[in-house]
Amino acid sequence: MTTTAVDVIAAKRDGHRLTDDQIDWVVAAHSRGEVADEQMAALAMAILLNGMDAAETARWTLAMVESGERLVLPDVGRPVVDKHSTGGVGDKITLVLTPLVAACGIAVPQLSGRGLGHTGGTLDKLEAIPGWRAELSTAEIAAQLAGVGAVVCATTPTLAPADRRLYALRDVTGTVPSIPLIASSIMSKKIAEGTGALVLDVKVGSGAFMPTVDAARELATRMVEIGAMHGIPTRALLTDMSVPLGRTAGNALEVAEAVEVLRGGGPPDVRALTLALAREMLDLAGIAADPEAVLASGQAHALWERMVAAQGGDPRASLPVARHVTTVAAPGSGAFCPDASAVGTAAWRLGAGRARKEDSVQAAAGVRWLHEVGAEVRAGEPLLELHTDTPEAVAGARLALDAVPLVSAEPVSRPDLVLGSIGP
Ligand code: URA
Repeated sequence: MTTTAVDVIAAKRDGHRLTDDQIDWVVAAHSRGEVADEQMAALAMAILLNGMDAAETARWTLAMVESGERLVLPDVGRPVVDKHSTGGVGDKITLVLTPLVAACGIAVPQLSGRGLGHTGGTLDKLEAIPGWRAELSTAEIAAQLAGVGAVVCATTPTLAPADRRLYALRDVTGTVPSIPLIASSIMSKKIAEGTGALVLDVKVGSGAFMPTVDAARELATRMVEIGAMHGIPTRALLTDMSVPLGRTAGNALEVAEAVEVLRGGGPPDVRALTLALAREMLDLAGIAADPEAVLASGQAHALWERMVAAQGGDPRASLPVARHVTTVAAPGSGAFCPDASAVGTAAWRLGAGRARKEDSVQAAAGVRWLHEVGAEVRAGEPLLELHTDTPEAVAGARLALDAVPLVSAEPVSRPDLVLGSIGP
């Protein structure tokens, strides 16, 4: 019997499991253009509403991997481990973690996408560095992994192309927040990239895809299972994203902060989360190095400079600075409590993020907060700086910040960074 798109949509609409054949067919046929975008969007909505079980999700992931090539990484004589974050505000961890674990003896192939919405993408951050190039050929990725030990670059068009098409559709049809679709989207790219093991940072809170620990745990469990089914040992940390990480959100601002951490300083939360994730990666790799000592030794900073220079960047060049900086004063006295979503939206509206994937971003735009979460501030005292090249954007950023209390009459303490872990 011939499968049709309408049969597959109707099966999921009516709450049935999709068969392996239905999944293989619909993913491949959409990639070939034989299933129309509107049909795939209807199926994505049926999946969002009725779910897919673990076996369906694993098969969906495999079908997306099979829609393209698998990267064959060279044997670099070291364990290959990657990390993926589901995205958070002020999340510059990759910039510190990648050179740190590479300096400890892991090879890291970090193929990333660009940021959409209020969370900035790693590539956008690195592109704030004069000369840095995100697009590398497969041969360049392999050569840099062998030579430097770490590469952060744009994913290539041949890796899981079915995901690329589907993600663009989900983005405009309100079907991004489906746990099976997120899990298969992320894992298909990591499987196609050829990593040997994977550590996931699954964010929880207002600034994340997953607002609750339960939802984050379900997503993490699904991804860990998919990794295991594909022979990729995968471990996930559930980490707080109710308040933003570090002291900055925005591309050049975050690069500068990451370099501070690589030099042994920087905000304690960025440092602590980087070290927690580094320990997980080293454990999966079976390497007994102490990442804290490696960070203190300056080796991670030296590796960062080599990694940036290998992609045409000048790690010592001055970073772009915004033409306008506006200070936001504390609306009252009390404890500073920046909401991650509000800060992320403000940074995005100032120009640090994009609304559509074709938009460009401002390298220097973003938000800097001048106090630690929970610090006592007095009414009228400077609280935040809004950085932008387009001052007309400031009003929109302020609206996002005015929608939440930035100062609490009650004492506030920073929530625990690591809320749980899933995996072997
Ligand atoms: N990131 C991805 O790569 N895919 C999703 O579906 C969501 C976040």
